[in-house]
Formats: sequence, C-alpha cells, structure tokens
Amino acid sequence: MFDKKLIMIPGPTNVSDRVMRAMIKPMIDHRSPEFKALYESLTENMKYVFQTESDVYALTVSGTGGVECAVGNSITPGDKVIVPVFGLFSERASEAVVRRGGRVVKLQITWGTAPTADQVAEAVQKEKDVKAILVVYNETSSGVTVRELPEIGRIAAENNLLLVVDAVSILGGDELPVDKWGIDICVTASQKCLACPPGLSLFSVSQKAWEIIEKVEKPFYFDMTEMREFGKKKETPFTPAIPLFFALDEALKMIREEGLENRIRRHRVCSEAFYAAVEALGLKPFPEKKSRSNTVIAFNKPDGVDNAQVRRIMDEQYGVVISPGAGKLKDTMFRIGCMGIVSETETLLTINALENALAKQGYKFRKGAGLEAARRMFC
Ligand SMILES: Cc1ncc(COP(=O)(O)O)c(C=O)c1O
Repeated sequence: MFDKKLIMIPGPTNVSDRVMRAMIKPMIDHRSPEFKALYESLTENMKYVFQTESDVYALTVSGTGGVECAVGNSITPGDKVIVPVFGLFSERASEAVVRRGGRVVKLQITWGTAPTADQVAEAVQKEKDVKAILVVYNETSSGVTVRELPEIGRIAAENNLLLVVDAVSILGGDELPVDKWGIDICVTASQKCLACPPGLSLFSVSQKAWEIIEKVEKPFYFDMTEMREFGKKKETPFTPAIPLFFALDEALKMIREEGLENRIRRHRVCSEAFYAAVEALGLKPFPEKKSRSNTVIAFNKPDGVDNAQVRRIMDEQYGVVISPGAGKLKDTMFRIGCMGIVSETETLLTINALENALAKQGYKFRKGAGLEAARRMFC
C-alpha cells in the first residue's frame, strides 16, 4: 500500500530524494581528481558538523566498525579504560575494549539513568593507571543522553586521559562541539542524525589522540595513520563505498544549508512534542527526565497491549515504522527515532499512527490527546 514508509526507528532513518539521487552518479576512480574534490568537500563539511579543527575521516563500515577502529588505534592489551555501562551499546563498547585486550573498569549504571561526571571522577581517582575513558554519549537502547559529557571532558583533560566518544545516534541531532568538550576521538555513523544511508562511519581524531595512536600497534584495515597519510593526498587507503561518499556529501551539504544550530533546535522541538504526546497518552518515558534523549524517544509499553501488534498496525495501516525496546527491554518498550528528517509532519504522523494502533489494541485514553499535546509544541 505504501511506496515509501516513514522510518521512525533509531536508525537507519529516512533519507531525502536528493541524497538518494546522489548515489546514482556515474562511478569515479578513487585515485582521480574528481575523488579528491569529493574528499575535500567531505572533510570540510565533516569538520563543520563535528565542530572541530582536528582531522576527520569517513570509513566504509557501520558505526560498530568506527567504534572498533577507535579502540583498535588507541588501546593496547593491558590498558585500563573506564567505560560507563548503561545499556546495550555501552556494553558493546566495553566488549570492544575487552576483545582488544584492554582492562575495562566498568561503571554499571542503572538503565534509564546516565553516568555522572562525579562517578567518572571517582573511578579516575580510585584506579591509578587509567589510559582512557570511553563514553556512549547517547545510549540508543534506553533513550538516555549523557548530559554531563562536557564535565567528563574536563576530567579527561585534567588527568591527561584519552576521551573516546560513541556519538553514533546523536551527532548532527544535538549539541556536540567536539573540540570545546575535549573529545579526542568522536565516532558517528551515516544512517542516523545525518540522514544518509547506512554503511559509513565518521570520526574525528585530536592531536592528543594522534600522539597515542602513533605508539600503538594498529590493525591493518583500520590503521588510522594510513588514513592520515592517504588523507594528505585526499584519498583513502582502500576502495571506499563511493556511492555512499556521494550521498554523505549531499547529506552534509544539506546540514550546512539548514545550519547546525537550526537542525539541533528542530530535533529538540520534535523530541519535546514526542515526550508531550507520550505523557498525554498516559505513557511513561523510560529515562529519567534530565537524561532524556532528543534523538531517541524511549517509553514503556502499556500493560495489556502487544508490542509487536502495535508496531504491525502502525506499519501496515499507517506506513509508520517504529522500534521495540532493545536487549532486555525488547518487549516492554517502544523507541522512536527523532533523527535527521524529522519535523512537525513526521512527528504528528507518527503520533497519529501510535494513537490509533494503541486504540485498536484496546488501550484506553482520550483520543487525540497525544496529537493535541504535540501540536502545542509547534505553535
Ligand atoms: C550508540 C550506538 N553505537 C553503536 C551502534 C552500532 O552502529 P551500527 O549498527 O551502524 O554498527 C549503534 C547503532 O544503533 C548505536 O546506536
């Protein structure tokens, strides 16, 4: 029934026709002047989105590959790394360090809450020989954003520790001035707030990070110093996914046209509308209020309705796709991606579909309450 569905999951997200069309350009040689021009444009616009003067790279891997690359270039066996774990993706980040042979100091934080700067500072004091702090800025599994990341950045700087941040589900959708917050390696992915198809991971590398990377025995494909060497010629060490590079170039140009500040404000307003709707429907956002994400709206499924059925009705009858919870919260939670191409239109279409699907599943609420509450946020 629907040619094109509204993909309101926490990535991949909706992609504009302009970005999709960019991928059908004729193929180019990745060692040609045309590619160098593309590389230059990507670099300039990535620096804008990351708000950094440091080096930036786009790598042909998904977000997990970007995180693994960051870990593989900065951590060696035996290195001690503080990792706050408060959901599925921070658990995975910690696992990436373990697989690399690092010693993880896990800060176990209750799902739905965020690690605080005090907790990180305490761990830094207690553990004498820490090398790095690895933080998932936006925990996609629970809809939690680490609002104290700037303070964690200060702790890292004061103690001369490397700060690695997984910003896969947030960069481009919320505040993240990489240089100002002292982030040494910041990793994101193409398919979330950048509104580009999946398949690329983007990351920045500070001078402090380079000093460490140079001393580390690095993986072969993921060797960042090779990326830096080839980057000097505006090339990548290996064959990149050129159509995705075209798409990313267009997606980043669209961000520049909109302006990062406007884009972040748009995400915030839409997220406020989603939370207002959720509460007006008598549902409970999963995270504590101060840590609610502007890019992933996570809320509890009401009793008596079937998670899969609600999503099936939304999908089949309204063409709107949302996600269940992740990991241990799979059945008890819904998650909506508020990422990339999201405005009043997408927000209200999603809430309308959610209301109707919940009603069809027998959930009792005042019809239209969610839409009314959300609409108020756009006035
Ligand atoms: C915070 C976070 N980190 C890492 C990943 C992994 O990204 P990918 O699925 O692109 O490998 C995700 C994916 O949702 C994520 O949300």
